[in-house]
Amino acid sequence: RIEQVIGREILDSRGNPTVQADVILTDGTVGRGSSPSGASTGQFEALELRDKDTARYGGKGVVHAVHNVNTTLREAVKGLSPYDIFAVDQAMLKADGTKDKSKLGANAILAVSLAAADAAAKSLGQPLYRFIGGINGNQLPVPMMNILNGGAHASNTVDVQEFMIMPAGATSFREGLRWCSEVYHSLAALLKMHGLTTSVGDEGGFAPNLASDEEAIQYIIRAIEAAGYRPGTDFVLALDAAASEWKGAKTGEYVLPKSGQKYTSAELIAHWKKLVQAYPIYSIEDGLDEEDWEGWAQLTKELGDKVQLVGDDLFVTNTERLAKGISQGCGNAILIKLNQIGSLSETLEAIKLAHRNGYRTIISHRSGETEDSFIADLAVAINAGQIKSGAPNRSERVAKYNRLLQIEEGLGDGAIYPGFLTFAQKH
Ligand code: PGA
Ligand code: ZN
Repeated sequence: RIEQVIGREILDSRGNPTVQADVILTDGTVGRGSSPSGASTGQFEALELRDKDTARYGGKGVVHAVHNVNTTLREAVKGLSPYDIFAVDQAMLKADGTKDKSKLGANAILAVSLAAADAAAKSLGQPLYRFIGGINGNQLPVPMMNILNGGAHASNTVDVQEFMIMPAGATSFREGLRWCSEVYHSLAALLKMHGLTTSVGDEGGFAPNLASDEEAIQYIIRAIEAAGYRPGTDFVLALDAAASEWKGAKTGEYVLPKSGQKYTSAELIAHWKKLVQAYPIYSIEDGLDEEDWEGWAQLTKELGDKVQLVGDDLFVTNTERLAKGISQGCGNAILIKLNQIGSLSETLEAIKLAHRNGYRTIISHRSGETEDSFIADLAVAINAGQIKSGAPNRSERVAKYNRLLQIEEGLGDGAIYPGFLTFAQKH
């Protein structure tokens, strides 16, 4: 039974406050959970409650959210069984009563939800992935590793937010992780050689000033080759345009905030098509705005049989928005972020809906992270197949990869690494 819940204000990887919660059981077990925080936040995400008191942390304090953990949420879950996460979450949703968790805060509710799951696993003496996934969760994810940052995550000239490498040809997670780290270092050497900066962005990828997204891709291809790997075979590429940050779908014109370049929805689709033809790009996330449903349907019609098209801001881990996307033929994969919806059980519902409809799932960190490695266990538990946790740089990113190494070791011969063929296009 849940005996006590304690909330506290901690710092995330950008030095902004976020919510951490401890759930203490009657048997003495302590579970812990922390909420991450985005920068290129989707308009339809659950509400992250911030104090707006400019005297503290520039208004970003979470004292109110922590207070909600220590009062309303504590009362709501006290006495409940931590093994029934759905009941724990339901009690909190009822206490909040709003659709977007704006009364108590998604950051408050999620921290308790994750802490309860952690407590349940610990009290059973089971690893977290086993508690969540049972004996069915055995698949290590292919990392979608962001090694070059732009957009809202860096102060450079690059508009596409994330350039990622995927070690699809590796035979295990451990091997894939090593390959990624080698390419990351080979990219550093290459940038240095060209007089470009190797300072990093919010997700640990390099953030040099470059003329175009194509130039970024070319550097990465050369880095893969310089490290001794074959682009397209050992590695495939993935992009997150985060085009909802480009604002303009409402006016029929996308304006890239840094370069000032303009595209209509159709021109942007043509641009992605051109890149996919020229480079081994496996996946494109948020290639269009979160409200450009028509554009998304067109993009999926034109590229959906060749490329993984991932809805992040479009779906915001929300079953209603995902159901709309499925019915309109928008995208073929969903990015899963716990704090977009704000509880573990609702996240699991979104994953189930995706899998039932042949949409792939990518478990994801946020650009503002903590040392918590929950998403590593979640990825294995639900056999996601892919994970986004940034570059092999900055400990809040590496914590998730290191946890996956432990899980792979623990699973022994039972561990599955999907690699390239298993997640090749089925559409
Ligand atoms: P965010 O970025 O956490 O800043 O929203 C991550 C993403 O867009 O995938
Ligand atoms: Zn994204």
